[in-house]
Amino acid sequence: MRRPLIAGNWKMHMTLADARALIKDIDQRLGQLDGTSDVDVLICPPFTLLFPIAKAVADSPIMFGAQDVHEESQGAFTGEVSVEMLKDTGCTHVIVGHSERRQLFGEKNDRFARKVRAVTGAGLTVIYCVGETLADREGGKTRQVVDRQMSEVIGPDVPADRLVVAYEPVWAIGTGKTATADQAQEVHGWIRGNLASTFDQATADRIRILYGGSVKPVNAAELLGQGDIDGALVGGACLVSEDFTAIIAAAAARQLA
Ligand code: PGA
Repeated sequence: MRRPLIAGNWKMHMTLADARALIKDIDQRLGQLDGTSDVDVLICPPFTLLFPIAKAVADSPIMFGAQDVHEESQGAFTGEVSVEMLKDTGCTHVIVGHSERRQLFGEKNDRFARKVRAVTGAGLTVIYCVGETLADREGGKTRQVVDRQMSEVIGPDVPADRLVVAYEPVWAIGTGKTATADQAQEVHGWIRGNLASTFDQATADRIRILYGGSVKPVNAAELLGQGDIDGALVGGACLVSEDFTAIIAAAAARQLA
């Protein structure tokens, strides 16, 4: 069975003081839950918090990662951060291709392809995000869009053991609308099929595919109960320790069942 990964994407939230308090609370709550040692827990704070967070999580099982990276190793790219700089912080994961990067910052698949290779080439794990807009879904184009986001970015040269995919329908992010468990499972199945044609079935079966888009304690268990949903990428709910740990608890319960 694939080990679940529950990842929190903090986006542009949290000061240092808030972050320390949140981590302390999450850690305490995790200590009181059964089965959480069978779940990978990751938080992805803004760049400025990575160094202090390395310290704050040092004695806890919580891993930390970055929300984005620049594809070049160094150079005149004002405002950007390279993967080597991220490695200096001790972080283990980097999110690439989040729909906010696609929609608000105009980044495209060719860039994500380079970012994915920069991250995995440096030995870190990439969480590569895909997902259709509402217009894509209503136009019956979900499969086509997601297949393209996969095929144009993920090739057989990407080390599969450093790859996590996140399916995040754009219409479900921060909107309170969640894909139904069946809708999510259907797309996760397509993504797994795409991975099987890029790599092979055994490799595809090892890669974790997370669901993201308004994941909350109330819908986590049902989503995580689907055969191809191996975890969650959580936005809003990860900023509230009670909610984030309840989602982790749902993943732990699945492992214990
Ligand atoms: P949300 O965000 O949980 O607030 O919908 C998910 C994400 O953007 O990763």
